Amino acid sequence: MLKSINCGELRKEHAGQRVTLAGWVHRRRDHGGLIFFDLRDRSGLVQVVFNADVSEDAHRLASDVRSEYVVQVRGRVSERPAGLVNPNLATGEIEVYADELTILNPARTTPFPINEESEVGEAVRLKYRYLDLRRRRMQRNLMLRHRIISHIRAFLNERDFIEIETPILLKSTPEGARDFVVPSRIHPGKFYALPQSPQQMKQLLMVAGFERYYQIARCFRDEDLRADRQPEFTQLDLEMSFVESEDVRAIIEALMLSLFAAVSDKQVQTTPFPVLTYAEAMERYGIDRPDLRFGMEIVDLTDLVAESGFGVFANVAAGGGRIKAICAAGAGGYSRKQIDQLTEEAKAKGAKGLVWMKVEAEGLRSPIAKYLSEEEKNGIRERCQAQMGDLILIVADQAEVAAASLGHLRLVLGEQLGLMDPNVLACAWIIDFPLLEWNEDENRWEAVHHPFTSARDEDWPLLDSDPGAALAKAYDLVCNGTEIGGGSIRIHDQGHQSKIFAALGISPQQAQAQFGHMLEAFQYGAPPHGGIALGLDRLIAILADEASIRDVIAFPKTASATDLMLNSPSPISPQQLAELHIAVVEE
Ligand code: AMO
Repeated sequence: MLKSINCGELRKEHAGQRVTLAGWVHRRRDHGGLIFFDLRDRSGLVQVVFNADVSEDAHRLASDVRSEYVVQVRGRVSERPAGLVNPNLATGEIEVYADELTILNPARTTPFPINEESEVGEAVRLKYRYLDLRRRRMQRNLMLRHRIISHIRAFLNERDFIEIETPILLKSTPEGARDFVVPSRIHPGKFYALPQSPQQMKQLLMVAGFERYYQIARCFRDEDLRADRQPEFTQLDLEMSFVESEDVRAIIEALMLSLFAAVSDKQVQTTPFPVLTYAEAMERYGIDRPDLRFGMEIVDLTDLVAESGFGVFANVAAGGGRIKAICAAGAGGYSRKQIDQLTEEAKAKGAKGLVWMKVEAEGLRSPIAKYLSEEEKNGIRERCQAQMGDLILIVADQAEVAAASLGHLRLVLGEQLGLMDPNVLACAWIIDFPLLEWNEDENRWEAVHHPFTSARDEDWPLLDSDPGAALAKAYDLVCNGTEIGGGSIRIHDQGHQSKIFAALGISPQQAQAQFGHMLEAFQYGAPPHGGIALGLDRLIAILADEASIRDVIAFPKTASATDLMLNSPSPISPQQLAELHIAVVEE
């Protein structure tokens, strides 16, 4: 090794020892006779002192060194005098008096400073990702990522799970997103697809008798990107045989709690994790991944104002719509402008308008107060549990619109009022999702989760009478308003699988062509099974306090799915195209 110890490991007890260090020059201060380096390696920083009286050569060379030079230093560890101890640095009680310096490699001036956490444009960060990753925050994030994945592996290995790899060159899995495809050179005109998830493979591993499988699996989805979506991302993918929903949830919940305790100082808000049905989540929070770090639940006022003198309420109620509200505690002082902004937010989610009410000493102040009876006003206040100084916001619309707009406003207000405590982890299970949803554009039913998800036992008959009412044996894990995982109990027999395909409008011929292997496998003794996949990037981002999953992935892509460092995607040579039997059609 070119070093005898890591920079960040040096402590008072090393005083007097001679050490060899190697790393990057984080910062250099030249005080004439004395030159100071902060020398950095992965473990941290240590102060190195070059004194012309100790070694003239080393001191002379040190004056040539610039930030980010890679150097090797030999010297003696020395306790710092009491007044010079730096309590903010783990190595702050000592420094190293250098007598030998070797420049292992000089460095050009970096496009942004490595030694400060200054704001740097993301495009530059991604182009020079290897420099961005040198910075403390990114080092910390990737080391946390490693610890999380190691912990998950150890936890599952101990519980008899085995890790099995599945192919990256696969065939299309019907999971909603668009596939990335890979042309075959050997089979002209044919394509592999990259897995959107190892869903079918893990089910086939259950048919194969492995009973408890997991994989830290890379998944590929060609979909519109957001802060929490990447075209390739990583799942903890897991499948178990002979289980019910509760068994899968119990293993994952235990894993989460042990992981949180091992890698995070955050407080888990509620254990066991609350379990909400999809319908309840939509009713109370207007969203299927509620942020439960705060209350501000949506309440239904329909029965109170159905016959109101305020025409909008009466009309909406008569038309089968709903009048719903949230109450923002302490927001009664919101200005006209702030309320206008909230109105715009509500409109962006489809609401036609937003009614506000402020609870004041004289009573409810609101543009519609004069149309409401005392009884209605008292009823609203009571149902909202509104106190003096609160702001009530009401949307009257179709149930879905009222839920979506108030659910959104709840999050906007939660943010504005500082209710989303970053030191709290509020996890919950959402269960009883609808099995199917109607696709207006294609005029057919679609699987909400994927077509291998089982209906609840009692709901199978609904597939013939009222498909939209059938609920699935599916569950999502949410944490602080993010969906971090989803899974289900699967169908394990050909009869039920064919029934789902029929409901989805997939003909037996199509089913055979696309899923023949699954249907056939189910005929050879498939065990009852189920599983889940956790979005690891999202989980890690929450634990690392990062808003974007890009900040916990070593080499992510931009929102337009490009890699700015590699300049990918990129054209390929005419010869490569010819080999693949592909012609590019110019736009
Ligand atoms: P699902 O599609 O819900 O389920 O994915 C599981 C979890 O993966 C994360 N996730 C993503 N993370 C980053 N970028 C993306 N583009 C992205 N898409 C999804 C989410 C999500 O909850 N095969 C099923 C699982 C199963 O049924 O066992 C599946 O993939 O956190």
